[in-house]
Amino acid sequence: MQEKIDKYTKEINELVKTTAGELETFRIKFLGTKGIIKDLFDEFKTVGAEEKRTFGKVLNQFKQMAEAKYNELKESLDTQQTGNTNEQDLTLPGTGFSIGSRHPLTLVRNEIIDIFKRLGFVVAEGPEIEDDWHNFSALNFPEEHPARDMQDTFFIKKNAGKDDIALRTHTSSVQVRMMENGKPPFRAIMPGRVYRNEAISARAHCFFHQVEGLYVDENVSFADLKQTLYHFVQELYGEGTKVRFRPSYFPFTEPSAEMDVSCSICKGDGCNMCKYSGWVEILGCGMVDPNVLENCGIDSKKYTGFAFGMGIERITNLKYVIRDLRLFSENDVRFLKQFQTEII
Ligand code: PHE
Repeated sequence: MQEKIDKYTKEINELVKTTAGELETFRIKFLGTKGIIKDLFDEFKTVGAEEKRTFGKVLNQFKQMAEAKYNELKESLDTQQTGNTNEQDLTLPGTGFSIGSRHPLTLVRNEIIDIFKRLGFVVAEGPEIEDDWHNFSALNFPEEHPARDMQDTFFIKKNAGKDDIALRTHTSSVQVRMMENGKPPFRAIMPGRVYRNEAISARAHCFFHQVEGLYVDENVSFADLKQTLYHFVQELYGEGTKVRFRPSYFPFTEPSAEMDVSCSICKGDGCNMCKYSGWVEILGCGMVDPNVLENCGIDSKKYTGFAFGMGIERITNLKYVIRDLRLFSENDVRFLKQFQTEII
């Protein structure tokens, strides 16, 4: 009996890899109801008491070893098979991958830039960390103007005046840089991120994005301002969008105005986006104050100009009916992937 067991053990140990057919043959031969193990157990019944003691253990170990081998071979066959099918079945669909999407603020900023580019405006950029002169003083802000107050501005260095360094509160600072460093005519827009010290909520954030614009030349009038912005709105919101100008105040423009457009969502009928007024304010504008031109070394007797500034968030909210500003900076893919665009 020992001889047989040794022979079979050797045979089993030599098996390393089998096909499905070979495995089944193995199972029938050793583990089947008429297999070798069954025979060995039958034989075991016939041996004497002395031998029973020795072979009982040996036989059981042999059985366990044969079963373990069978399981091992079966497992390696299974993984081998799944591996093989994937490799060979070229009709199976490939692994999908997701492409990114543009941020809604980028989409709208690009749209605004495109409209003004068609009108002959170039894009100008400047630093986000600004000195007092470019952000405030050159723009005709009086010393005691509340916008200079710690509550609105993130100061990096505060010496109460000329040497202050702050995060820019608007991109008008880029207009100053442009006028200081060049000669009229100027026709440019300034897109960029700006910072204001506000508590974060659905309606306010400590940073947002602007596009400001500047047009300085001889004989630029308020009529040019109105016509340019009117055209812009027709392009952005569609033909027939109404505009209205309300008198306003900015230190750097005189006269100044705020421009409303008829609500693009309810078309002026009234909805909660326009607080049931039918109008939404989208930008501030005005004729560049002669003081600002002179501060930048431009002859205000010869040149006049207009300027305007808008928040990209506000325009995006209206375009896509977004009610919470925080969505723009939370990077939630469930929000962002709704703006999937074809990237060519
Ligand atoms: N700088 C202004 C703001 O940030 C916007 C503006 C720009 C208004 C130009 C008038 C003219 O609110």
